[in-house]
Amino acid sequence: MRRLREVLDEAQEKGAAVGHFNVADTVLLKAVFAAARELDVPVIVGASEGEREFIGTSQIAALVKSIRDEFDFPIFLNADHTHSIAKAIEAARAGFDAVVFDLSTLPFEENARQTKEAVTAVKAINPTILVEGEIGDIGAGSEIQETVPESVRFKTTAEEARQFVEFTGVDVLAPAVGNMHGMLKSMARGEDRKRLDIERIGHIKTAARVFLTLPGGSGTADEDFLQAIVAGINIVHINTEIRLAWRSGLEEGLARYPDELAPYKILAPAVASVKRVAVSRLKLFTGNGLKLPV
Ligand code: G3H
Repeated sequence: MRRLREVLDEAQEKGAAVGHFNVADTVLLKAVFAAARELDVPVIVGASEGEREFIGTSQIAALVKSIRDEFDFPIFLNADHTHSIAKAIEAARAGFDAVVFDLSTLPFEENARQTKEAVTAVKAINPTILVEGEIGDIGAGSEIQETVPESVRFKTTAEEARQFVEFTGVDVLAPAVGNMHGMLKSMARGEDRKRLDIERIGHIKTAARVFLTLPGGSGTADEDFLQAIVAGINIVHINTEIRLAWRSGLEEGLARYPDELAPYKILAPAVASVKRVAVSRLKLFTGNGLKLPV
């Protein structure tokens, strides 16, 4: 089975990106896996500290491992938005493939200092684990946001990216390039789209020379995703879009079966609606260029 690093190398070579979807329950996990399997493309599932708290850190690791082993399928697990070294160590010990160490709200020097410590600590547990650092505050929460946070105006510079990567030794960098967490109501209605600073992504890629992630992907214009991938983005994070699909699918299930008690019947429309979103995003990110080797 290929490791995540090899899959990202292949994605980079083919001008594709790997989709990353957050999961907090088995509905989301089942739907994301079904989408990746239908398209035969690798996928990353992520669980933030809050999502891990809900589903269980070792439990999500065991679930993902069981899918990977049973189906011989490249599905990878990321400890998304990890804010402390203790939580990063916990995820590494549980067998996660990657950790996003996110101190992006701290001043640059403090973020870099602690991220370097996290890299050393988790690589001592698993030398092949990928560690991602974040610079630039793109707001908190994969929710419907009232306004665009003020901090989103401050984008990562190529020089910051170079210094951060050199100092910390991260394998992956998540820069602020016009992206933000969550969606405005207008975006959820499809009337407005996030726009990315493509030129900046290109400069950051040249300066940082590591894999790049685009967090806060929900509601981004399709053409910006495609150009961002060409400019150097290797992983795209989607959460709010699948949370919206999860909720509307759940509401549909409850409305369709008002007297039903069996969770697997009520939840079936939620699996279907999350899967639809994941399929459409994965198609866009991979351009069908990341098929599994036969
Ligand atoms: O880690 C989660 C993501 O960065 C998702 O952001 O909710 O805007 O898609 P999003």
